[in-house]
Amino acid sequence: MTDPTRPEVIGTIADLRARLRETRQDGTGRAGPTVALVPTMGALHAGHLALVTRARELADVVVVSIFVNPLQFGAGEDLATYPRTLDADVELLARNGVDLVFAPTAAQMYPHGATETRVTAGHIGSLYDGASRPGHFDGMLTVVSKLLHIVGPDAALFGQKDAQQVFLVQRMVEELNVPVRIEVVPTVRENGGLALSSRNGYLRQDQREGARALSQGLEAAASAARTGGGGAPAALDAARAVIEAQPLVKLDYLVVVHPQTFLPVGDDYRGPARMLVAALVGTTRLIDNAPLDLS
Ligand code: PAF
Repeated sequence: MTDPTRPEVIGTIADLRARLRETRQDGTGRAGPTVALVPTMGALHAGHLALVTRARELADVVVVSIFVNPLQFGAGEDLATYPRTLDADVELLARNGVDLVFAPTAAQMYPHGATETRVTAGHIGSLYDGASRPGHFDGMLTVVSKLLHIVGPDAALFGQKDAQQVFLVQRMVEELNVPVRIEVVPTVRENGGLALSSRNGYLRQDQREGARALSQGLEAAASAARTGGGGAPAALDAARAVIEAQPLVKLDYLVVVHPQTFLPVGDDYRGPARMLVAALVGTTRLIDNAPLDLS
């Protein structure tokens, strides 16, 4: 017997497809219920719940996938230690009105081992996070593409915290004509401004406090952009001053990109932009970003 107060947890692609087919048939010949997909790697937090809340507004049926995708982790990254908390995740999703959890094994997703056919993220996929994590975005796009094909959702939801991921997913959907609406949900932050991330759990308390320098740097940049008239160089200087003053934070990259091309803007550029930052706090790599109005 299934318990109507808990999401059904499904482990195979065939079972998920059969269950979604059933869900979509209302027997009246009318269009069936709409489906929204929230792709995750588990270790869920309030940022994921914001995606679920928006998914429930957009669609009748909410599917959350939980899969720590080996293809998007490089050698020496935290694939083995990435937090896996399936029972707690399902519990949380049960309390937040999720209908289906798709929690496949790696063998289910990649029955022939690392797949030969992959989506490539192109030049933008090799910049910023892609420069520090070669192959990461090809692996991410490949699994997102598989999940979109498996679930066939009307909408899929992603957090703005992963700005480069969002850009690449939107471009893949546009360039490959995937019939899905991509919905981007604002970053959820702790009280001190630190963007929520499953990797924050790796941080000691002093590191967690130090990591606030990232969002504080972005705020300093936004204020310099608004008031100074100095364009991207002034915004970068303002952010760098705040972040580099924090000894526990080691800057990886700090860049101002054009929202449409995701390429770095020139010093003379004026208009909307986005600042991206990545840093190591201890051995934990954190990313964040914020819009800038370069006037
Ligand atoms: O953002 C994530 O958690 C992952 O990159 C995603 C989109 C679930 C793909 O594995």
